[in-house]
Amino acid sequence: MSTGLPQTRLNTRTIVVAVTLGVMAIGGAIGGCVARQPGAGSTPTGFDVPGDMSPQTLAEGQRVFRFETFNDEKFWTDTARMHEVVQTSVSPNTALSVGLKVDAEAIPADVAAAIKAGQVDLTSPATTVTLLKLNAVVGLKGTVSTVGGRDTLVRLGVTCALCHSTVDNSFARGIGRRIDGAPNVDLNVGAIIALSPAITPARKAVYGSWGPGKYDPRFNFDGKSTPLVLPPAYGLAAIRNETFTAEGPISYWNAYVAITQMHGQGNFSDPRLGIHIRQSPDLVAPRLAALRAYQHSLQPPPPPAGSFDAAAAARGRLVFNARCASCHIGGTGTDNNSGVLHDPSETGMNAAYAMRTANKRYRTTPLRGLWQHPPYFHDGSAATLDAVVAHYNRVRNLRLSAAQQQDLVQYLKSL
Ligand code: HEC
Ligand code: HEC
Repeated sequence: MSTGLPQTRLNTRTIVVAVTLGVMAIGGAIGGCVARQPGAGSTPTGFDVPGDMSPQTLAEGQRVFRFETFNDEKFWTDTARMHEVVQTSVSPNTALSVGLKVDAEAIPADVAAAIKAGQVDLTSPATTVTLLKLNAVVGLKGTVSTVGGRDTLVRLGVTCALCHSTVDNSFARGIGRRIDGAPNVDLNVGAIIALSPAITPARKAVYGSWGPGKYDPRFNFDGKSTPLVLPPAYGLAAIRNETFTAEGPISYWNAYVAITQMHGQGNFSDPRLGIHIRQSPDLVAPRLAALRAYQHSLQPPPPPAGSFDAAAAARGRLVFNARCASCHIGGTGTDNNSGVLHDPSETGMNAAYAMRTANKRYRTTPLRGLWQHPPYFHDGSAATLDAVVAHYNRVRNLRLSAAQQQDLVQYLKSL
């Protein structure tokens, strides 16, 4: 860890932990596993600090969400060497094929016109470097310098928008205006990470097995692989605990991901998970309040016009209120605000992921923007909303008629 040595209060403990972290970055996400000593207890506090929803704070939160890497380039560039891979072998067509999105509003009009006219080589990695220079690849932040008269990608990092933003395809498939908070259901994170030359074949095989729209945020700690669907980061303003297993409030989880998954620079400790990371200066903590405010401002995208049958949805709402609202309670759509968690068997869920977490049980997912983000459930085990309803009908023995099931699906499409 040559960067970020603390300016003050430099002590042996900081150095020891910083060195350990260097090993973890290489040995954890890329090479092998890191030993943990899990313990009991409640969510660590201190991540959530009071914030405001002023326009300035929201603008800063949007900047952080879209563009802040927290200096994770030290991992994605110095360790994983992703800048080399992108520069030599990731054309725009390859990037789009693994689900990366392009922000059409960041492309100048003349470049956009050239793309439309078929005058831009979308099979050349040099074009990807140009897009990175324009800051137009959603969730990737590249630093492009002139080396020997050529644009050269010298640093590459990732941001929250990589997994939690998509585009509206208004320019072309995969190219359009940003929709922040909407999970990128096309993004094959595992396939992208597997491009790193620093990864062993065994781990490449695991990353390659996840498929689009999924990511395992604990693989680098316990070496197990039960990938989760990328969830929405919108519609959370009234939700007390985030994640499928309600690990803690939003800023707790934001810090977890920023530091342990994106490999940004900051402090994260959770005795429940046996994770203790300290890196100075902490580039994450000072940004959590604005980041939370911005996420809390994100509303679920409304269902497209004509995408559901309103009369059937009104009937389906009654079925929902009778059979589903005991857990997906009115208003927030989850009973977790009062602390309730559910044993995997209550909803017929696979327990494997929950067993790897602090709480071992699942939070009732607040239902929002469902039309936007198939597949459903933490592991994506239901491909469609029809499959969700059929699942509940079976595992909870609801004996719903075919008509009731169809109405319920229409209601879910309206949320
Ligand atoms: C590599 C992909 C990836 C990146 C990058 C990423 N996340 Fe996530 N995020 C996930 C996954 C997977 C989950 C599901 C974890 C769970 O629920 O246990 C998640 C969960 C969440 C949730 C909880 C949603 C809910 O329903 O409670 C929020 C909020 C969130 N992320 C925000 C962020 C923010 C803010 C950042 C940047 C600091 C970020 N994420 C970076 C993959 C990612
Ligand atoms: C016993 C409590 C309980 C009941 C009753 C219940 N749910 Fe759920 N629901 C949950 C839990 C817990 C999850 C999270 C499961 C997971 O992903 O592991 C969930 C997840 C979901 C999801 C997935 C959301 C997403 O974004 O992936 C949908 C959709 C859903 N439920 C709809 C329903 C419907 C429709 C009914 C009624 C037929 C219903 N639920 C009844 C607890 C419940």
